[in-house]
Amino acid sequence: MRRPFASLVGALRRGSTERAPAPASPAPAQPSAFELVEAFGDPVLVVRSGRIEAANEAARKLLGSHIVGEDVRIAIRHPAAAERLTSSAEMPGGDPIELVGLGGRDSRWQMNIAGLGDDRTLVHLVDRSEGHAAERMRVDFVANASHELRTPLAAILGYVETLDDDAALSDPATRKRFLRVIHDEAWRMHRLIEDLMSLSRIEAEKFRAPETAVDLGEVVREVHAVVRDAADPRSRDVVCDIDESLPPVAGDRAQLSQLLHNLVGNAMKYGRPGTPVTISTGRGPGSMIRLSVEDEGEGIAPEHLPRLTERFYRVDKERSRSVGGTGLGLAIVKHIVERHRGRLDIRSMPGKGTNISVLLPPARLS
Ligand SMILES: Nc1ncnc2c1ncn2[C@@H]1O[C@H](COP(=O)(O)OP(=O)(O)OP(=O)(O)O)[C@@H](O)[C@H]1O
Ligand SMILES: [Mg+2]
Repeated sequence: MRRPFASLVGALRRGSTERAPAPASPAPAQPSAFELVEAFGDPVLVVRSGRIEAANEAARKLLGSHIVGEDVRIAIRHPAAAERLTSSAEMPGGDPIELVGLGGRDSRWQMNIAGLGDDRTLVHLVDRSEGHAAERMRVDFVANASHELRTPLAAILGYVETLDDDAALSDPATRKRFLRVIHDEAWRMHRLIEDLMSLSRIEAEKFRAPETAVDLGEVVREVHAVVRDAADPRSRDVVCDIDESLPPVAGDRAQLSQLLHNLVGNAMKYGRPGTPVTISTGRGPGSMIRLSVEDEGEGIAPEHLPRLTERFYRVDKERSRSVGGTGLGLAIVKHIVERHRGRLDIRSMPGKGTNISVLLPPARLS
């Protein structure tokens, strides 16, 4: 980023802010300051005596179409930036300034300033919003993951200490009860760690789209067979509606199976006992292939829908925790869908039920 900015500063120092008069000879014309600034993709401004002398298209888009000729304090309504650009004591240059909220509440821009050797200053704005959001997410993720691991760990430590107590050791029923809690909480930690590792594996592969031809019907039958054999009484409610005429999808078989297990697991957990959980496949829009899981149950209120695929997001934390949920199931689903270059569609009617559909691209014919 700094290299093109530095070269632009150099070019402007050599040139002039005025358009060069038409050359008498056929020698190639030097680009004017305006032309140089315009060629830059990031917002770039030339400021002279506190007024904006030139602004490229990106800068006009960010700060307004009429900023050329305006007082810089009005164009960039940001105290730190205004102070730096109007201060006569300062020979512009020095450290970049971070501007928060310019052109949008959550936006962050880095402002680089360079003096042009006369009374002009070049201002270059670099969008840092995405990097900042990613950093925020990373910090939140570490905090959430630590918290989720600490809760079962605290329970395990507490019960182990109590077990050490003679009274608890001598009563077999109490001992058994304590050991059960320790066992369940240790398993909870185990599941959480498995899910976290799974997420990071999927993320690490996200730029490599799977290419193997996978018969989606077969994956559905396999998952159905595993679910049917489970001890859960809800497993009898799972039914399949497979379109046998579908072409194979371009997929990673293990990940598609994991995706389906997560969706069916949710439908069984959050759907009403005794109502069907339907897994279906069919044709989606274009050449895409659809995989859906539908349940009848409490559904999800619309305000929660946009956040469901965030890591650790649960509509009712206590309830999810009591049925063994970690809040990572749909985050894993989302990442698998993204890696497959597919689409995830969550539709839900509170009080009626939920339908989660995944659209996957067909395998390429070789
Ligand atoms: N079919 C559904 N019906 C109603 N609510 C659902 C359904 N699927 C997911 N949810 C809601 O979305 C939340 C997030 O789901 P997700 O699968 O990510 O986590 P979880 O089921 O709580 O835990 P995990 O899947 O990691 O064991 C759930 O806690 C639940 O509140
Ligand atoms: Mg789940």
